[in-house]
This record gives sequence, structure tokens and C-alpha cells, in this order.
Amino acid sequence: MGEIYDKVYKESIDNPEKFWAEASTKVHWYNKWDRVLDVVDGHYRWFVGGTMNTCYNAVDLHIENGHGDDIAIIYDSPVTNTKKTYTYNELRDRVAKTAGMLSSHGVVKGNRVIIYMPMIPEAAIAMLACARIGAIHSVVFGGFAAHELATRIDDARPKVVMSASCGVEVSKVINYKPLLDEAIEQSTYKPVKCFIHQREEAVADLVEGRDFDWAEEEAKSELAACVPVDAIDPLYILYTSGTTGKPKGVIRSNGGHSVAMKWSMDNIYNARAGDVFWAASDVGWVVGHSYIVYAPLMNGCSTIIYEGKPVRTPDAGAFWRVCEEYKVNVLFSAPTAFRAIRKEDPEAEFLKQYDLSSVKNIFMAGERCDTATYEWTKSVTGKEVIDHWWQTETGWAIAANPTGLDPMTVHAGSPTKPMPGFNLQALDADGKQCEPGVLGNLVLKLPLPPSCLMGIWEDEARYQNSYLKFYEGYYLTGDSGYIDKDGYVWVMGRMDGVINVAGHRLSTGEMEEIAGTHPDVAEAAVIGVDDELKGESPMGFVVLKSGANRDHAEVVAELVQLIRKQIGPVAAFKIATVVQRLPKTRSGKILRGTMRSIADGKEWNMPSTIEDESVLPEMTEAINALGYPKPKNKDI
Ligand code: COA
Ligand code: AMP
Repeated sequence: MGEIYDKVYKESIDNPEKFWAEASTKVHWYNKWDRVLDVVDGHYRWFVGGTMNTCYNAVDLHIENGHGDDIAIIYDSPVTNTKKTYTYNELRDRVAKTAGMLSSHGVVKGNRVIIYMPMIPEAAIAMLACARIGAIHSVVFGGFAAHELATRIDDARPKVVMSASCGVEVSKVINYKPLLDEAIEQSTYKPVKCFIHQREEAVADLVEGRDFDWAEEEAKSELAACVPVDAIDPLYILYTSGTTGKPKGVIRSNGGHSVAMKWSMDNIYNARAGDVFWAASDVGWVVGHSYIVYAPLMNGCSTIIYEGKPVRTPDAGAFWRVCEEYKVNVLFSAPTAFRAIRKEDPEAEFLKQYDLSSVKNIFMAGERCDTATYEWTKSVTGKEVIDHWWQTETGWAIAANPTGLDPMTVHAGSPTKPMPGFNLQALDADGKQCEPGVLGNLVLKLPLPPSCLMGIWEDEARYQNSYLKFYEGYYLTGDSGYIDKDGYVWVMGRMDGVINVAGHRLSTGEMEEIAGTHPDVAEAAVIGVDDELKGESPMGFVVLKSGANRDHAEVVAELVQLIRKQIGPVAAFKIATVVQRLPKTRSGKILRGTMRSIADGKEWNMPSTIEDESVLPEMTEAINALGYPKPKNKDI
């Protein structure tokens, strides 16, 4: 156990070009690449000179290999009482017609297309249609509000937007179209056309000349063929949270992405053609891009698009029901989903009604899988639970347990070992390698393997400053952690203002910026605190402007609404308080780490750099007055 992994990992680090050249043979190329790896202006580019098409690899190739009647997509929507399947043939027709629709409306290779959709097959169809004609898609998560959508429209400058009239959150119909209208109103750049998938739960009004009924336009379109693109042409831009209010547009290329997706399906997930693969996430996140849409389809699996929650749709047996009904082989979700199930059904009574024998393993990502969630999930399902660690920027797991290559012993709380090509190290502040077991900054020695970000969309400085400037020759993951003497990786948390709320990546810096726009707020600090269900939750502290004699509860209620309006409900910003002052260092830096330790009920020491020691007792009192429960599970 572990010997095969050791050999494969070493090969990938010693000779990345040979390793990935071999892996690339699993992908269909129109023209094989000339060079496996190239360095252009300090950027690493994989499979230069190769031409391929991601949609062809995900859809058409299977039809040509005689698998057109296999199930490609299973759509299961407890919130609308709908179940539907698409064979690869049916999927190809919808994708090719949608691509034809985009082409006939002037979308060409390199144009950006924003996709703002709920969890319905049309979301995947839109993504694949863009890939088919070489347009660059940028999916915006449905839980984001108009302002976030507007920011992304301004940054990506999409020629068209593809959206739906509404989404359904448990039993609430969320009208997407008014949010889209408001976003276009707010944005400086205006997309030329919008295609709206009308759903019967809420039919949207269309703006004459700008908006088109997607179904009508698709019906009259020709089937479009796959357009060969360069391996290094962008497949998509996916915005993710950083330390500031402006999201970062992570660019992913076509060729490297496909090669890494294929490698990961075979070796990490052990998922083969004909298997049913279920990533219970959302197409708006990277997990959804990689493992709801692209990778399962590329490997000829059936992928599940689930429009529901782990609980309340209708109960805590939802995941088990889907696993039994579709004979799911690989289940993948975030620990928060299993915590939600455990909270509602601690004895897993629902599970007793279902047969999970098809499930090989349960994969978790999005946040660290705490020991309690690991133990509970493993004991009630009888399945091995595999935590794996990755980021929007990498597109696939930096560290995982390669169940298809060489399954290794699981250590609860560790995502196991680095995956091929990820030369992971823990460095101290001076750039020296930490001893085994010693906490440091988790960094990746360049080059990053295929599928990792090519850069930040039209912001080279941000790319350099966010990831590369800290340690020469290394990519900074932003996570802290250590590697133990056996080579196991332990990820302990973010070093920056990024938090993970219910597996959703959010920026506390952005929340601070928004709180700062409230007319009565002089200063704001937002920290992530431990949350029994969601892993982390934002907690806000604001200092009012002098003379702002406002009722504190009213200001807090206004801030909660303001952040909900600007970022969206997914921010889940619900707890805040007004304080007289914030604890700061003598150089004016807010001591967020100490605030967090106080809020989490952890031990803390008076920082030697603090400007005024009397602020912290005040802060402790303010936090205690919030009555926010400290998680019983200290491992979260
Ligand atoms: N469109 C519109 N609104 C959305 C949305 C979407 N796609 N997704 C979430 N929201 C809304 C929710 O309705 C909720 O609104 P509310 O404040 O009006 O109740 C709010 O955003 C917060 O949502 P969430 O953080 O998801 O909390 P929840 O209580 O609704 O559900 C979980 C909690 C744990 C059940 C849920 O977060 C979950 O299933 N998480 C799985 C994690 C996941 O998919 N992670 C992706 C990475 S793998
Ligand atoms: P995202 O870009 O939304 O995928 O979020 C990436 C961040 O989520 C990482 O940088 C980590 O902080 C956190 N994360 C994701 N998966 C894990 C994991 N398995 N263990 C620990 N942290 C994780």
C-alpha cells in the first residue's frame, strides 16, 4: 500500500513532461501537441501546439465509440418533482443545437458567455455548447446577488448571457431574471443578448431586442460542429473570492484541463465508463465544473444533476435515496452536507430504508473534513470516506487518496498525499522548508500540473501578487498546514480573509468593504468563526461614526440586509455587533486572528504588537454578548 503511489508521484515530479505526455494519450487530439510544457513570460503552458475540443471529448467521442445510447445526464429535482435522463445522443443534439443558436447570434471562438443558472441540465448544456464553439464560459453561482453578477459582467465582458427564469430553493422560487436585469442595469459593460430558459415555476418577462427565449431559438438552430481549439485556449473563467471585494477570474485552458480530468477520474475516483458519478455540489463552483460536468462525461460516466439539498427536499434521506435510485458508484459532496444530514437524523434512520451497495467511496471536499463528520459518515454508511483538498485555482485535487491507483490508509482529518505534479511543501516565513509535522505555508513548487490556472483574467498583477510574489518559484495556496513524517498532508486553514461557509468560498474583506459603505459605519471587521453546521460563519464588528446615535440592533439589521443584497443570500452574514473600537496592532492592523480565537473559545495570548491591551476584554464581552454557540465539535 503506497508503493505504486510513491513511484508514480516521484515520476511526476522528476519528469513532469514525460508523465503528462503519457497521461495526454487518454484525450482525443485533432493535432497532437508539439511541446508538453512551455514557459511563456513566466507562465507555464501545457500541450502547446495541440488542438482539441473539450466538448468533443466529453460528448461526441462516446457516440463515435458506440455509446450514444448510454446515459450521460440524470436530472433529479425533488424541488420540482422532475426526473429526466439524457443519453449521450440526446445530450449531443441539445448541446449542438444550443451551440448553433449561439453561433447564429454571433458568438465566436474567444467570446465570453456568462451562465447564471440553477441546477438544471441546461446549465451543463450551456457550458458544453460554449466549449463546442470555443467560446469561453463563465458560470456565476445562482446564490449570488445582482451586484456580484454585475461585477463579473464588467470583468468578463460577455457577448451574451445564458440564464433561466428562476431557480427553486427548497420550496422558494427565486426569480433569476429580475436579478439579471438589475445586474445589467448596474454594469458598465452591456452584453448584447440574453438567452432565457423559461421554467414553468416562474415565466420571466423578456426585454424586446435583447432577450430571447432559449427554447424557441434552440429549436430553430442548426446543429453546430465541434471547433478545434488550441490546448492553451481558455475553456472557462471562474470567479473566486480573494482578499478584496473584487473576485479573481481564474482562467482554465482546454488541453491541460482535459488531461487532468481524465487522470483524476481513473486514478483518484476510480470511476470508469458506465459508472454513475454524483458530485452533489453546484455548477457555479469549481467542483461542479470539474465533477458534475466535464470529468464524468469525459470518462463516459452518467453524471447526476441534483436540484435539491441534503435535507428538507424532502428529508435527511435525500442523498441515500438518490444513491439507491440511480445506483451511484461515486458520491462526492462537502462535509457540511453530511453535518446537515447528521443534525437532522443522528441515528441515520433514513439510511435504513435504502441500499447503498453500489457506492464504492464517499469523497469530500470544499473544507476540511472534521473527524466527527468523517467518523459518523463512515460508520453509518459503511463506506470509506475520502477527504481531498483542492481549490478553484487548481481545478482538481492537490492532495487526495488515489483510490483507482493505490488506495492508501486513511487518517481522519488528512486529505492523504499530494497528487502527481503537485510538488507540495510547507515553508516558514523565511522560505525554509518546515520539518515534518511543523505548521507552515502550503506552497506548490512551479510548474503547477495541467489544469491549474493559466492566470487571472486580464489582471496579470493580481496573479503575480496573489500567488507568486511570496516565495520565488512557488505558488502560494493561501492555506496553512503541514506534511507529517509519513508524507500525509494536514490542511489547517486559510492564511488570508477567505472563509468557507457551507462549502462556499467567501471573502471577509469583501464583507468589510460593503459594511464600510453603510452611512453610519466608520470601520468594520469581519471574521470567520467556527460553525457546527456550516464549518465557518461570518461574524461582523462595526464601529459607528462619531455622532451616529443609532439603535445598534437597527444598524446590525441594516448591515445584514446590505450584505445579503450586495453579495447574495449565500454570504449567510447574520451575526454582527457594534463595538466602540477594534483591537489593532501599533501599525494599525486589525487583530482578526485574536478576535477569532476569542469567538471560537480557543486559548489566546495578548499579542505583543497590540496598541491598547484594554480593547480585548471589551471585545471578549461583545462577543460573549452575542451568545453565539461555540461548536461542541472542536475539530471543525
Ligand atoms: N440560488 C439561490 N439561493 C441560494 C442558492 C442558489 N443556488 N444556494 C443557496 N442559496 C441561498 C439559500 O436558499 C439560503 O437562503 P436563506 O438565507 O434565504 O435561507 C442561503 O443562500 C444560504 O444557503 P446555504 O449556505 O446553502 O445554507 P442552507 O441552510 O440553505 O443549506 C446546507 C445548508 C449545508 C444544506 C447546504 O449549504 C448544502 O447542501 N451544502 C453543500 C455544499 C456544497 O454544495 N458545496 C459546494 C462545494 S463542494
Ligand atoms: P474553493 O476555491 O472554493 O474550492 O475553495 C478552496 C479552499 O477551500 C482551499 O484553499 C481550502 O481553504 C478549502 N478547502 C477545500 N477543500 C479542502 C479540504 N479537503 N481540506 C481543507 N480545506 C479545504
